[in-house]
Amino acid sequence: MEVRQGMAAESRMETCLLIIFGATGDLTFRKLLPALYQLEKKKELHKGFGVVAVSRKDHTLKEYLQKAKEAVKTHTSEEFQDSIWKRLNKRIQYQSLEFNNEGDYESLRGVLKELDREIGARGNRLFYMATSPKFFGEISKHIQKKDLYSKKRGWKRLMVEKPFGRDLSSARELNEALTEAFKEEEIFRVDHYLMKEMVQNLLMIRAANQIFEPTWNREHIDHVQIISTESEGVGNRGEYYDQAGALRDMVQNHMLQMLALTAVELPGNLIAKNLRKEKIKILQSLIPFKEVSIEDQMVLGQYEGFREEMGVSEKSSTETYAAIRVFLDHPRWLGVPFYLKTGKGLKEKAARIVIQYRLPMGSCCLGETKEIEEPNRLTINIQPQEGVVLSFNTKQPGTLDTIMPVSMDFCQNCLIGMNTPEAYEKLLGDAIKGDQTSFTHWEEVEAAWKWSDTLINWARKYPWMIKSYEKGSRGPEDAPDLVNREPGRKWL
Ligand code: BG6
Repeated sequence: MEVRQGMAAESRMETCLLIIFGATGDLTFRKLLPALYQLEKKKELHKGFGVVAVSRKDHTLKEYLQKAKEAVKTHTSEEFQDSIWKRLNKRIQYQSLEFNNEGDYESLRGVLKELDREIGARGNRLFYMATSPKFFGEISKHIQKKDLYSKKRGWKRLMVEKPFGRDLSSARELNEALTEAFKEEEIFRVDHYLMKEMVQNLLMIRAANQIFEPTWNREHIDHVQIISTESEGVGNRGEYYDQAGALRDMVQNHMLQMLALTAVELPGNLIAKNLRKEKIKILQSLIPFKEVSIEDQMVLGQYEGFREEMGVSEKSSTETYAAIRVFLDHPRWLGVPFYLKTGKGLKEKAARIVIQYRLPMGSCCLGETKEIEEPNRLTINIQPQEGVVLSFNTKQPGTLDTIMPVSMDFCQNCLIGMNTPEAYEKLLGDAIKGDQTSFTHWEEVEAAWKWSDTLINWARKYPWMIKSYEKGSRGPEDAPDLVNREPGRKWL
């Protein structure tokens, strides 16, 4: 097994201009600017790296920088250092632009050319779509039509935020629009879960430890649980969320991506091309649901008070909770259920992947026959704590026939000096380096929509499926049945 270079050693960032469309939006202020600040702090940005912040607002550069500084101060977890901000702010230009105004793109072209010459960005352009998705197609069309990059010099890349479409057909339309201007190898579709340290670590744990990979299959694994829950409600995103629901917002992308990485066949070499090819196969092997037994496969819920949230319809039947049981048509996983659970307004904010092994064959122990009750379990804690816990059975000291379940617990973020970079730092860093490993390929997105479209349609067709649950609870009361109906299984 070869582990790609980028995983072992960071390569140097390249020169480029990062053009952020939607530079006064929530994403830019909460995530992108703080991530750039961190990269600046770690001295990872090349001297030929500049940022052009583009938005529809009519700000001067000074006004924009003031807002940007406040945002970084608010959203940076460590103490804000003015000296680092000063270094970053010298790299930033501001340009106001109406997304459908051709003349504005011509002015932007001028700004890009001049800044490129000034800092030596060598024609490299990284365009970031941080606007509402409805503008993605239009902006991409103008990038090409108005020559916002050079055809002779440097590279061009496009970063696109989720949601990538709202169903299979709109995703296809969007993809067609983007691929008029950018090739697949130039498109970096963002799924920030793929940048989470422990989600990435999953592959390494499998690849670098002989004890896991040989048992990573239907013979040894009873089932897999993939969980990402949130305690917060929808906050100020009610309008968007009421249209999306948990199935579109989390399942179609983050949850299925975690499933794909758990189930994927490890390629001989973990480079982007190989890994993404294998993930596509997993997503294409998701077994479609049967409409007659939909209740055995999916539990949906809505937290009490959701309909009173700002922007949410008072008659809304949108799901804020989804628990799903899914199987793969794949030789390694035939008959192994993957349970997915996600939702808002729940008891805790946590994400984890749990691999529950089968119980050993037969019984133990010296002298007496004992049934072993606790199977081995490998838990990958993604957040808030990052780490790995392996549960196994041992003998209770002083006895000969008492089994005691114990666990080995590696808490990664408890270790001093293990500073995990934030997802958006890695996203930007990888795109600047041109590494597509942790971005989604179009065929992954397409396969994920194909499978989830059916679910979403049924959720809308059968609103009686949406069960109400108390905010701060563990979700609808019958959700445990999805897992508990098999002996030895429960939500973990
Ligand atoms: C986003 C969803 O993609 O992921 C949000 O749109 C959700 O609704 C968020 O809250 C969860 O991300 P994280 O990193 O906080 O688990």
